[in-house]
Amino acid sequence: MTPQQIFNLFKDELQEVEREFVRQSESSVRTISDIGKYLQESGGKRIRPCLLLLCSRLCGCADQAAIKLAAVVEFIHAATLVHDDIIDGAETRRGRQSVNRKWGSQVTVLAGDWLYMQSFAVALQQRNFQILDILIDLTQRMVEGELIQLTFNGNRRVTESDVLDIARRKTAYLFSGCARIGGVLGNASSEQQAALAQYGLALGLAFQTVDDILDFSSNAAILGKPVVSDLKEGKVTLPLVYAMEQCTADEGRLIETVLQERAFKTVSQSQILSLMAKYRAVERAREMARHFAAEAGSALALFPHSLFKEALEAIPQFVLDREN
Ligand code: IPE
Ligand code: IPE
Ligand code: MG
Ligand code: MG
Repeated sequence: MTPQQIFNLFKDELQEVEREFVRQSESSVRTISDIGKYLQESGGKRIRPCLLLLCSRLCGCADQAAIKLAAVVEFIHAATLVHDDIIDGAETRRGRQSVNRKWGSQVTVLAGDWLYMQSFAVALQQRNFQILDILIDLTQRMVEGELIQLTFNGNRRVTESDVLDIARRKTAYLFSGCARIGGVLGNASSEQQAALAQYGLALGLAFQTVDDILDFSSNAAILGKPVVSDLKEGKVTLPLVYAMEQCTADEGRLIETVLQERAFKTVSQSQILSLMAKYRAVERAREMARHFAAEAGSALALFPHSLFKEALEAIPQFVLDREN
């Protein structure tokens, strides 16, 4: 199955999700509606709503509730992105000015808060405590992930397990929650729900690992956000951890200098990139991403064959191959 074929399976539903997203961002305060509209128009891959819809169909649910909740998870994602861009000082997102660049950080903090609360208000309409529980839990994990990442900012002694813990919290729990909510909507057994949660968690880890790789290997025009920026933001990501595990003390100091200067000033970008190449750091991170992708695939074993299972089985490879 190709990404396009999967997209076509849910074309109508995804269009409804877009309309729902706009409806949910309507506020009597003009700035909030404007920001909501801006976020919806800037697009994005919509991988989280897709995941929720697919898992709900896998479990036999084709209910309107799935559309609402698909919009809710995209809303939560949007809220974390606008806050993340303030924290990271990012000026572009999805090929356009970031919300903080366009409206300023003060407005953007508040817009993010509003988006979070609106997500929960809409989710509450379902009167399903299990779903609320999942959403609240994953949102707290995401904030924790961003917080832990901040406490490590500029610190070169970050380990593989630290990086994976951060990735699990800031990215993978949301993927996991999307998949589990699909199961809850379809009244799946607790065993099946746990399998979906496991699938989403592994997929999310693969996704964040690829995001960290793309920061080194892609370009801004394709990615829609700046590249080789994690290091300048003070973030030690998985490829960097692998480079640092092997490099000499002098090379380690080059990396540390960029982390401290928050810029390629004394040390150039190409010095860092050639160091990464020398230790095959990106390749090692890619192996890790492949490992998570395979783990996601095997989590689906207990589901009987269906078109939706086939689609879910294809997604880990798309995550590995993605260019943006
Ligand atoms: C970006 O997520 C944040 C990460 C978890 C790496 P996406 O890459 O899904 O962003 P959009 O929604 O497609 O722009
Ligand atoms: C993922 O981290 C952000 C969230 C989960 C909020 P990044 O900081 O790597 O995301 P990008 O690269 O800015 O999209
Ligand atoms: Mg960021
Ligand atoms: Mg990133």
